[in-house]
Amino acid sequence: MTEQLVSSKGEIKRMPLSIKGLDDNIGGGLPTGSIMLVCGPAGTMKSSLCFNSIYAEAEAKKNVLYITLEQSYVSLLNQMINMGYDFQKIDVTVIGSDPNIIKKKVKDIKASKKGHLILSDLGSLRATMKAQDAPSADWWNIISRIVKTLKEEVDISCVVLDSLNSLYVLSDFKNPRNKIFHIFNFFKQLGITAFFVSEMPKDSSKYCEYEIEDYLADGVLVIQLVERNRKVTREVNIAKMRGTDINIDIFTLEFGKDGFKALYGGKMPLV
Ligand SMILES: Nc1ncnc2c1ncn2[C@@H]1O[C@H](COP(=O)(O)OP(=O)(O)O)[C@@H](O)[C@H]1O
Ligand SMILES: [Mg+2]
Repeated sequence: MTEQLVSSKGEIKRMPLSIKGLDDNIGGGLPTGSIMLVCGPAGTMKSSLCFNSIYAEAEAKKNVLYITLEQSYVSLLNQMINMGYDFQKIDVTVIGSDPNIIKKKVKDIKASKKGHLILSDLGSLRATMKAQDAPSADWWNIISRIVKTLKEEVDISCVVLDSLNSLYVLSDFKNPRNKIFHIFNFFKQLGITAFFVSEMPKDSSKYCEYEIEDYLADGVLVIQLVERNRKVTREVNIAKMRGTDINIDIFTLEFGKDGFKALYGGKMPLV
């Protein structure tokens, strides 16, 4: 499935981010099949926010894939359990890169009545590889094969790639700009909604490593840590979203008992 031309505004299907106060400001959510860059320094809850959005998809009985390259799946799941996500409501399957094992797991996913969160923990896989094999492994080849198989077999609707920076470090692309173009195109061609995590150094003005990812992406969500009177808050804004009339103002991002919330104007006085 490639990009589809719509005949009217109402025909654009959207995937909510499931962040209260933010979805209403972006026309209800991200147009399906879009690629959104999720940028911010360490600890801004990028991984959690992406997880939150695809958890909601899985709760709605869709199959989704989270590819983690830097954080182990155990560490990721522990964080999500600590945040109160209910793993009775969805099924979770962990996969590596072995095509035969993926085939077996695909059978279970097809048989399940719940939405499936498929976790691909390539960071751990790398750690278990022999030191001499790891640098030569073609990680993009491994990832694209997994995504393609799961799209064809269990129709995954959404993928999180966490993070682009880790993929760059692992892969050592010879012509990165060309490769990045190819990566974005790969997801567009499959019609998958994708979240690409981009780690930003603190106080950086660039959203991403090669400064072309934000041009190629359909959407850019930025989270910053902001200090006022020695209190640090997380602030979020949607810098870009194609096909959507968005509010580009800055919101305070909070996580509490009822999930993620974006507060308009924030709680602190603006100085
Ligand atoms: N239950 C919780 N409520 C609010 N914040 C939490 C909770 N659990 C963990 N965090 C915060 O989430 C942050 C890590 O989020 P994470 O999504 O891993 O960030 P990033 O991917 O941007 O580095 C930690 O700094 C931690 O303080
Ligand atoms: Mg993270």
